[in-house]
Amino acid sequence: MANSHRLLFVCLGNICRSPMAEGIFLHLANERGVFNLFDVDSAGTGGWHEGARPDPRAIRTTARHGIQLPSTARQVVQNDLVEFNLLLAMDSANLGHLNRMGADNAILMRSFEPGNTNELDVPDPYYGSGDGFERVYTMLVASCNGLLDSLC
Ligand code: 4NP
Repeated sequence: MANSHRLLFVCLGNICRSPMAEGIFLHLANERGVFNLFDVDSAGTGGWHEGARPDPRAIRTTARHGIQLPSTARQVVQNDLVEFNLLLAMDSANLGHLNRMGADNAILMRSFEPGNTNELDVPDPYYGSGDGFERVYTMLVASCNGLLDSLC
């Protein structure tokens, strides 16, 4: 990977939150004309869904906003900690997992959400009803915009 900004979005299963973050980030970076500055991928701390496309509810939610999700699920590996210069954890459990692997470059995704000092986890929408995905979408758009503001 050649670009100076190499970002890995990380959640538990890599079929809901982190693929949405990846797709939204790429979409917003493209709109800002800075797409080429980034290498972006997503991964899960768990490996149960290895090889799977994102959850249909995640695909439907982002598609409603004109955003496609390129992800195929994979588990985080040790080499990701050196390959990527920023690891964006969706919640504190994911962050703890990355820190236990030895990461010193992992941070909570919602710490980039402008004005948010309150709840820093992106809630897992997997077991909930459909509108959980729309709430996750809104949080991730704000966080991705904040992240782009901080990097560009
Ligand atoms: P994600 O959601 O971490 O946002 O991809 C989940 C997807 C699957 C499972 C848990 C969370 N699971 O236990 O299979």
